[in-house]
Amino acid sequence: MSAGQKYSVVVVGLGKRGMHHAQAFQDNDRFEIAGLCDIDPTRLEAAAKQFGQPKTSTDAASLLKSVRPDVFCFCTLPQLRLELIRLGVDSGARLIAFEKPIALSMNEGLQVMDAVRQAHVKTVVSHQHRYGDHYKKVKEIIASGAIGRVHTVYGTASGWMMHMATHLIDYMRWFNDNADAEWVVGQASGKEKLKDNHPSPDYIAGLIQFANGVRGIVESGDGAPDVPEVDYWWRRCRIGAQGTEGFAEVLTGGGWRAITKDSKGVISGPGCMDYAHDMPPYVAGIADWLDDPEKIHPCNGESAFKGFEIMMAMCRSAVERGKIKIPLGPGDPELEALAKALPD
Ligand SMILES: NC(=O)c1ccc[n+]([C@@H]2O[C@H](COP(=O)([O-])OP(=O)(O)OC[C@H]3O[C@@H](n4cnc5c(N)ncnc54)[C@H](O)[C@@H]3O)[C@@H](O)[C@H]2O)c1
Repeated sequence: MSAGQKYSVVVVGLGKRGMHHAQAFQDNDRFEIAGLCDIDPTRLEAAAKQFGQPKTSTDAASLLKSVRPDVFCFCTLPQLRLELIRLGVDSGARLIAFEKPIALSMNEGLQVMDAVRQAHVKTVVSHQHRYGDHYKKVKEIIASGAIGRVHTVYGTASGWMMHMATHLIDYMRWFNDNADAEWVVGQASGKEKLKDNHPSPDYIAGLIQFANGVRGIVESGDGAPDVPEVDYWWRRCRIGAQGTEGFAEVLTGGGWRAITKDSKGVISGPGCMDYAHDMPPYVAGIADWLDDPEKIHPCNGESAFKGFEIMMAMCRSAVERGKIKIPLGPGDPELEALAKALPD
């Protein structure tokens, strides 16, 4: 399709994030919402009213079959991934945009990636925080060389793993030039959150050896360092890099700060995670990539998968002990293995 034409979109799962996506697609004149789906008819009706009464269904399979969109976007809870990926691939969609986490196990993640790779379907995963001005500022400082040679990247979040760790690792990799990981060591504790709709150990920590020599340190959940200067609990994330001549870090709900070789003390600036600010460029990048295969989306699924793989390696290390080499193959489902391995 040539630039300027509209891409048709079906959005499935019209909760918080589905509505954010639908709004961003509607606000971008490169897209047309051609279909909406939710199993909750009241939500579906309200969304249809808001987004111009496109085709609707409570059944994603039949909607996709009748609409055959260019873009299939789904924003369901993490329990529903592979089935919808397969429906999207079968519908002939050229790009599938979906929410983190990619899957609930490495086995499922590998099946997701196999399905889209075999069908040459592009994927984009919602790690859209990186569009925040404070995130971009930290990336810019690190990339400019102002903190010297980066030796460590880090990320912490109060929120638990399936909510937050893929965000943290994705941005750590971005701050580290998207380097591949070689091995991971992990430790975990607590089984309460394994029952959550984002099933996770209550706390997980990981050390990552990146192929470029940089060390990654990640912690997520109950036990991760607090970020008391941020009011809103879910935004208590701190992600940054240390170099030979300084550091730069972003607080998801509290701006950025740095010391650089020329800064003569701490410098800082504002910024707060904001869906209304971050979703428009995230969605615009989807049209750019469909227009031009060279304009690969920064949140492309292949890159997101590398972060997901690191997270799964942390879980495997907590169960098996020791270094887990990347890439990972199939194995025991990580959450079930953690449920057995962690003490009550
Ligand atoms: N990227 C981010 O910043 C961010 C922020 C919050 C949540 N998320 C992620 O977004 C995802 C969705 O979270 P949410 O808070 O929007 O959830 P939600 O519960 O608000 O919405 C999920 C919707 O999916 C619908 N649904 C469930 N099964 C369905 C099916 N088979 N077919 C059609 N619809 C179905 C539900 O009825 C509900 O309306 C999660 O994976 C979460 O981790 C991402």
